[in-house]
Amino acid sequence: MSVQSLYKIRILVGLFLTTTFFLSAQAAVPASTYVGRGTSPDPNDNVTVSINVPNDNSDSLYFHFLAPADQTWAAFGLGGQMAGTLIFVTYASKDGNNVTVSPRIGTGHVMPKHTSDVQVDVLSGSGIIDGTFVVNAKCNKCRSWNGGKINIDSTSQAMIWAAGSSGTLNSDDLNAQISKHEGYDFFNINLKAATGAGGVPVVNSSSTIIGDGPPLDGHGRFRGATGFHAFLMVGAFLIVFPGGLLMLRVFEKVWLHWGIQSLALLMTILGMGVGIAISKKDSISPNLTAPHQIIGFAVVGFALVTWTVGFTGHLIYKKTQRPAKIMKGHRVLGPLTMGLGLINCISGFRFAGSNIAMIVFIVAMFLMLIFVGTVLFLKRRQRARKAPLNTPAAANFREGHAAAPSYTGEAPLPLYGQGGIPLHSYVDNQAPPVYR
Ligand SMILES: *[C@@H]1O[C@H](CO)[C@@H](O)[C@H](O)[C@H]1NC(C)=O
Ligand SMILES: *[C@@H]1O[C@H](CO)[C@@H](O)[C@H](O)[C@H]1NC(C)=O
Ligand SMILES: *[C@@H]1O[C@H](CO)[C@@H](O)[C@H](O)[C@H]1NC(C)=O
Repeated sequence: MSVQSLYKIRILVGLFLTTTFFLSAQAAVPASTYVGRGTSPDPNDNVTVSINVPNDNSDSLYFHFLAPADQTWAAFGLGGQMAGTLIFVTYASKDGNNVTVSPRIGTGHVMPKHTSDVQVDVLSGSGIIDGTFVVNAKCNKCRSWNGGKINIDSTSQAMIWAAGSSGTLNSDDLNAQISKHEGYDFFNINLKAATGAGGVPVVNSSSTIIGDGPPLDGHGRFRGATGFHAFLMVGAFLIVFPGGLLMLRVFEKVWLHWGIQSLALLMTILGMGVGIAISKKDSISPNLTAPHQIIGFAVVGFALVTWTVGFTGHLIYKKTQRPAKIMKGHRVLGPLTMGLGLINCISGFRFAGSNIAMIVFIVAMFLMLIFVGTVLFLKRRQRARKAPLNTPAAANFREGHAAAPSYTGEAPLPLYGQGGIPLHSYVDNQAPPVYR
């Protein structure tokens, strides 16, 4: 064989190799894929999220998303919690053949709001195909957004998906109202491995990772814990703290007041612990920076200070037999803490997206405030009415001690302007009996 023909073969082989390299590079866009079990026990009910990160210094991403279309909506989000996560909510288009993909930003445990800062282009191959939402999309301004960002160098970027209740929602409106999710789950995705030539990921069996375990849902793992948190906090601020106040004001039992408020304080501390655990485990707001959480810490702090001031004040009173000055602080801090606690119960129901429970709570709260207010008002009026009867003079009169000292014989009755008959004083010897 001549050198020339060898040379030709080399060129041909080289061309062949180069061509296949380019073809395969185009076919296999780097991507990372997650496949998780959907909300029903059906093994074919799965949720697929595949991401490609183009290495073109842009702010864009490509993604491929599959979810059962018998649910009103399905979504996945870039981020491991609801608050601050960019979520792509997918539902049927108005004609029911294609998909509407609405980028939204989560604000806690309530419906995420559409953002027009992020732009999603739905590409070919998308639609509702064999009962599945199929989304092939390119997303611009997708790597950072108002309130969050993703780390494209991360090998385990936290992600979330969720699916709505069964039914159909046909809309082209990017602001369409969606119902609360029926199931959701967290997962991680390797964005570093998904970086390279840009394009819609093609999911094949070798690129598939199966998510572990059934998804979390509204009836899932932490519902019990959330209910316990609400039970402790609502119980403390709606019943136990006001009950402790009435013990003091109505029955004037200091030790009962102390015991009941201590119980309420323990309930709030335990409730706070449960709340922190839910936020961390359920990744609702694990940094504990949501307003409900911050106000909650303030309330527990105030409650602790109020308790300490009250206890110290009582010790001072025991020692000096005089009301301690710091008790004024206790009387201001107590109601302030209770009020703030009640407000934070409302904010908690909003945080959990339970609007009906919130309304029930507000009604119960007003009934409680009316009851406590009425009892305190009646008690105060009764006390004002009975006050003249509890003076030493009235006690003397009532108890018939006006005879001492006796004026019979020893001295003449004082004349007008010479002072009155001295009364037997209950103040010096012993407290007069209280007339209630
Ligand atoms: C996911 O569901 C689709 C049908 O929607 C099915 O074709 C596919 O095999 C399922 N994948 C896995 C990993 O179960
Ligand atoms: C859905 O819309 C995209 C973008 O307009 C288009 O490429 C795709 O073919 C449509 N799918 C169907 C099933 O009509
Ligand atoms: C499947 O995808 C991976 C990575 O995306 C790729 O390397 C592989 O060649 C693909 N396999 C097939 C059969 O397409």
